[in-house]
Amino acid sequence: MCGIIARIGADDGVDRLLGGLERLEYRGYDSAGIAVENGAGLAVQKCSGRVDDLKESVDDSGVYGGIGIGHTRWSTHGPPTDDNAHPHTGATGEVAVVHNGVVENHAELRAELEAAGHEFTSDTDTEVIPHLFERHLADNDPETAFREAVRDLDGSYAIAAMVEGEDAVFAARQGSPLVLGVDDEEYFLASDVPAFLEHTDEVIYFEDDEVGVVRPGDVELSTLDGDPVERSSEVVSWDPEETGKGGYDHYMRKEIETQHVSLANGIKGRVGPDGREPDLDDFPPGAFEGVERVQFVACGTSFHAAKYGTQLLNKAGVAAQAFRASEYDDAIPVDRETLVVAVTQSGETADTLAALDRATKAGARTVAVTNVMGSSAAREADDALFIRAGPEIGVAATKTFSSQVVSLSLLAHRVSADAADESPWDDPAAFYDALERLPDHVERVLGREDAAGVADDYLGSDAFFFIGRGLAYPVAIEGALKFKEITYEHAEGFAAGELKHGPLALVTPRTPVFTVVTGDDDETTVTNAREAQTRGAPIVAVSPPDHTVTDAADAHLPIPDTHPDIAGLLANVQLQLLSYHTADRLGRAIDKPRNLAKSVTVE
Ligand code: F6R
Repeated sequence: MCGIIARIGADDGVDRLLGGLERLEYRGYDSAGIAVENGAGLAVQKCSGRVDDLKESVDDSGVYGGIGIGHTRWSTHGPPTDDNAHPHTGATGEVAVVHNGVVENHAELRAELEAAGHEFTSDTDTEVIPHLFERHLADNDPETAFREAVRDLDGSYAIAAMVEGEDAVFAARQGSPLVLGVDDEEYFLASDVPAFLEHTDEVIYFEDDEVGVVRPGDVELSTLDGDPVERSSEVVSWDPEETGKGGYDHYMRKEIETQHVSLANGIKGRVGPDGREPDLDDFPPGAFEGVERVQFVACGTSFHAAKYGTQLLNKAGVAAQAFRASEYDDAIPVDRETLVVAVTQSGETADTLAALDRATKAGARTVAVTNVMGSSAAREADDALFIRAGPEIGVAATKTFSSQVVSLSLLAHRVSADAADESPWDDPAAFYDALERLPDHVERVLGREDAAGVADDYLGSDAFFFIGRGLAYPVAIEGALKFKEITYEHAEGFAAGELKHGPLALVTPRTPVFTVVTGDDDETTVTNAREAQTRGAPIVAVSPPDHTVTDAADAHLPIPDTHPDIAGLLANVQLQLLSYHTADRLGRAIDKPRNLAKSVTVE
């Protein structure tokens, strides 16, 4: 959803800007550009396409400079053309601006500026910013002019801007992420930490309505009104190695293949000494006393994890519902006894943040379940539970889904124990035992080759269906989302019992039905699979080895036997591998699927 970067240092920083943009490409890859102060003015290089294309044009131009800004775009206003690429410059070329977010009043501002003689060259909402900046520069020093320009904007923004001849980057944040990286010799500003993590792990997160003026050797942080802000830096715990491909062809493959490690991190130290309850630092026993119902708000894959959490809470007798964050409107009753859990890997998804804001205003207690410390969700919710998956760069969420489910399982155990007089779980020790063995079980699935063979067998099918019930249902819909997202093939997930209420009309011998069965009570799912098979559809069972579904199945993606509350995660790994291998066979852009961005910071 657009990534911005700035680098402020004395020596040439163009490579650092380009390297940072590569690491931010997961946020959008429609166009890319940089602007640097090279002593003779602002040099701008930008083009439609990827950062690799930008690199070529930068190499040809020989552009250099110690202070610069950069952008990688996910188009919102206007198609991915050279003209719409950032940085945007005003009428005189005296300023350059990169922006992530949406300027909601851009149409009014543009009309006003055009009436005053400003000529626009792009379709973007962003272009009003350099024109406003220029207009205010006529009567103000650069910092004041920048503040005035920012004040004119409604909407969301993380902005980095430069003025010709000024050794400074001016930055502001409202509703879109912005973080400062602090090193001995240089500073960075970026939408996300991986952009500069190989250079420094010392960071300061901007809050909304804050402005930064960053010069070589000096940072001034203040509110938009000009009151100074004192904030200490913090150190992020991510390892720079984690942000590379680590020898794999794709980030997605690496993130699938290292899931046992991220899961082990998410579980470590979180199971109580008796092996029967969670040990969550910020949520001791009794932390959720008084909670009467739980509402999850989330989007996409995180919504599927939230569905999983909902089912677990319902099983334990706690009223819980999962809402797609974009549908969480004022009609939904929320009160002080409602715990609203925002599930968001990035912590920056605009729809989820809007839902969180709504819940806060309605007086609910809020918890963010997120992967990113310092993210907007982590800061805006009352409390945060970190899933500890490490950075995820592939646009399709993989390891973060499994880590979310683990964290939500622990949270569900804590909430339900607080809501009941005695443990609502039949055999908690069996669950915790399975949880601790989960990384080993995942590694066993990762060592298997079946998904690649099944991908080959069904390549060229007309459509791919995924079914499951209970805890297998979120796994089925997540399997379908992953599949469509990276293969571009038609894939749908259905509640197994719903197949006969309509979707069965789509079933033919050219539509494999991936049937996820993870529990003992899934016999009805087997019947539903057979109903599809009778109409000619091949059945691929995703199940423990001896489940009766295998008798019916044409192919099998086996998973180890484990506790039914956790088995879905093993089935999910098989489905991730299936999607990956199918997309690979089809030559798709696996890490950067068309039209998508990882962090969706517009509603
Ligand atoms: C799918 C995917 C998206 C995200 C969704 C929410 O693979 O990655 O569906 O899950 O955009 O993102 P977060 O979790 O960052 O709020």
